[in-house]
Amino acid sequence: MFNSFKAFISLLSLATNLATIAAAPADFSSTDAQWIWTTGRAADGTTYPPGNVSIRRDYFPPTGKTPLSAEILITADNAYTLYVNGEEIGAQANFQQAFRYCVALEAGCNVFAVEGQNTPSPTASNVGNAAGLISAIEIRYSDGFTDTIVTDAEWHAITGAVPGFQQVAFDDSAWPAAFVEGPIGTTAPWNTIGVAIPPTTDDPGPDLTSATWIWTNEVSGPTSNAPIGGRAFLKTFSLPGGQLADSIVIDIVADNEYTLYINGLVAGSGTDFHTAQRFEVNFVPSNTVTIAVWAVNVPPGGPAGLLAAAEIRGCTCGCGANAFVVTDATWVYNTTNPAPADFINPGFDDSQWAAAIVEGPYGIAPWGNVAIPTSTSPQSAPVSGAPDAPPATVVSS
Ligand SMILES: *[C@@H]1O[C@H](CO)[C@@H](O)[C@H](O)[C@H]1NC(C)=O
Ligand SMILES: *[C@@H]1O[C@H](CO)[C@@H](O)[C@H](O)[C@H]1NC(C)=O
Repeated sequence: MFNSFKAFISLLSLATNLATIAAAPADFSSTDAQWIWTTGRAADGTTYPPGNVSIRRDYFPPTGKTPLSAEILITADNAYTLYVNGEEIGAQANFQQAFRYCVALEAGCNVFAVEGQNTPSPTASNVGNAAGLISAIEIRYSDGFTDTIVTDAEWHAITGAVPGFQQVAFDDSAWPAAFVEGPIGTTAPWNTIGVAIPPTTDDPGPDLTSATWIWTNEVSGPTSNAPIGGRAFLKTFSLPGGQLADSIVIDIVADNEYTLYINGLVAGSGTDFHTAQRFEVNFVPSNTVTIAVWAVNVPPGGPAGLLAAAEIRGCTCGCGANAFVVTDATWVYNTTNPAPADFINPGFDDSQWAAAIVEGPYGIAPWGNVAIPTSTSPQSAPVSGAPDAPPATVVSS
């Protein structure tokens, strides 16, 4: 997504030294955001036929301004897929709930594109109903100032799913202007149904209670005995749309002990499965975060499990672009002991590793409600037998 990664990083550090002038769009009514769709509205003046539409907005920054990021507040009736500069950023199908996205921008022209969908009424598949897209986008520049663009007649909209329409190079100059239905406060039916707006900051921290205990296929459940020894677990997570993260907060506990690595560096270890530890780790801005764990079932053996929840903090915008990761079947494991060389490092090929076995949710026996940390732990050394690596930058309170 970035023409020059290094240039982006230097702009980023420049921007963090400058005060920002405006807050992100709090809601739609604080802007001039309009519900828009295509010109294909039915003769009744209120409904659209079911089906997909393609909607686009080319954004050229004012002379001398370098866009850094956009915070996008958006919803659509009934569904949308949002793209920025050709990359899919998010998709939702709940028009009563708006969503926020924080996306890094290109230095020049940027393209916001939405594939909107009007679904048929539940009772009759060909009967039309209301359809609309509404969005407010705060553009943040390298000088710390911001502009807000909104859905209005500046957008172009056409009936149908148009292949490739989300790409920057796509030419929408022949498309008609979007049809403007009206602002949020007065436009039926949404003015009476209502649209819930998410808070401008999204920093609830990790949620261990939504994580599941995982282990390898050597267990048949949470109370079955696992072989004694260390096992490798891995989760690589990429932020959508090329966004960068620069820190992670992770709550983690293992039966019996573990060492946690973030992007190849040792965050710390724990040896008490009654109590989780919290580590806060800063790292060089990266799109992908590698969470690696060496977890050990120590003699005399018995059940084994790993439970973790992380908040990955995006750094491109300062507008709460956080992602949340918990231990589940999207993690992978390896039973080789000692651990495969370099498995803790970013870029390790885990394609041959199997999906983790889910033993059960937080709270399940034999571990029960393990204590959730309220403060962070300092960096600590690997447990015996765990891969050695340099220490991570651990922020401890
Ligand atoms: C129609 O739009 C919805 C919402 O963006 C999307 O999930 C779906 O894949 C689209 N369908 C087609 C045929 O493009
Ligand atoms: C363990 O990892 C190695 C290296 O990635 C891989 O070749 C092997 O298939 C894995 N084996 C198991 C049992 O997970």
